Amino acid sequence: MPQITVSPSQTQFSSQANETILAAAIRNGINLPHSCQSGVCGSCAAKLVSGNILQSGEYDDYVLSADEIAAGTILLCCSQADGDVVVDMPSYAGAKAIAIRTLPARVASVAIRGDVAILSVALPKAPPFQFHAGQYMEILLKDGSRSYSIANAPSQNGVLEFHVRHHEGGLFSPQLFSGSLKTGSIMRLRGPLGSFYLNEDADNAPLILLATGTGFAPIKGILQHLAETQATRHVHVYHGVRFENGLYDEVALRELLAKLPNAKYTPVVSRPSENWQGATGHITEHVLRDYADLSAHEVYACGSPAMVQSSKQALVQQAKLPEKAFYSDAFTPHV
Ligand code: FES
Repeated sequence: MPQITVSPSQTQFSSQANETILAAAIRNGINLPHSCQSGVCGSCAAKLVSGNILQSGEYDDYVLSADEIAAGTILLCCSQADGDVVVDMPSYAGAKAIAIRTLPARVASVAIRGDVAILSVALPKAPPFQFHAGQYMEILLKDGSRSYSIANAPSQNGVLEFHVRHHEGGLFSPQLFSGSLKTGSIMRLRGPLGSFYLNEDADNAPLILLATGTGFAPIKGILQHLAETQATRHVHVYHGVRFENGLYDEVALRELLAKLPNAKYTPVVSRPSENWQGATGHITEHVLRDYADLSAHEVYACGSPAMVQSSKQALVQQAKLPEKAFYSDAFTPHV
C-alpha cells in the first residue's frame, strides 16, 4: 500500500487502491485541510515533493493556476498515490490539529421547516467534543454516510445542530421527515471535518457571509461564535433562496444579528412571489452592488458549487477581493 507523508508535520498514513490521498487521510483520522472533496474549493491544495500521482478527478481551471500546476501543486481530493509520495502542506498543523473522532449521539429534537429539518443531537459529556465554527460532521449510516455542516458554535458543549434538506428516496433525510428517527434515537457521527471555519487571526477584517439554501448552516455556526465572543467585526450576511419559504431559520438568524453590533442581513429570493418586497436575483450581484471594493474584506461562502465558483470569480475580478480572503464550502446535493 502506498505510504503518504505530509510535510512539514511528517504525518504518515497509507492509501488503498482507488482511494484519493484526501480520502485516505480522512479514513486514517487525519483532518487534512479540505472542504468540497470534489475539486471546487482548492482547500486541499498541496505541493508534490516526491513520488507520482494519478489524477483521479477533474477540477476547474480557476482552482489551480498554470503557475501553481507548473510548481507541482496538486489537489489531494483529485489525486491518487501511485507508489509512495511526499506532499508539502504547511497549513496542516499535524498533531496540534483537532482530532477526528467517531462518537455516538442521541437525537434531542427534530424541527421541520418546509423541506428542511433542523436536527439537534446530544453528544456524550466527556471528553468534550471540540470543533471550529463552520466545520462539518459525517453521519454514519448502515449503507453509507452523509455529511452535514454544524450549525452551532463550539461553546454549546455537547450539542450539535444540523440542517437537513428533504430528498425523496434519500439515505438519511426521509428518516427525519417520516418521524422514524425519533427523539432519543442513537446515531453515530464522525468529525469534526473540513477547513471551512472562521479565520480568527484576521483581526477586525469586515466579513461577508454568503449562503444559498442549507449552506446557511455553517454560516449560522460562525455567527453564533461571533456573537458569543462579542466580536465587533462588521458582518453582512446574504442568504440566497429560490422561494421565500427557503428562509427557513430567519427567526434564529435575526436573534443572532441583534447580538452583533455591526451586522447587516440581505435575504435574496430568485423566484419571488408577488408579495416579496426584498432583494431578488442572485446574491453575488447584490454583494457587488453593495461593495465596490472588497480588498480589506474576508468572504465566507457556503452553498452550491455553482454559487461558490461564480461568486469567487466575480468578487475577485470585479471587487478586488484577494483570492486568499475567499473561504468556501461547496456541497453537491445528495440523496
Ligand atoms: S478542492 Fe479538494 S477539498 Fe475542495
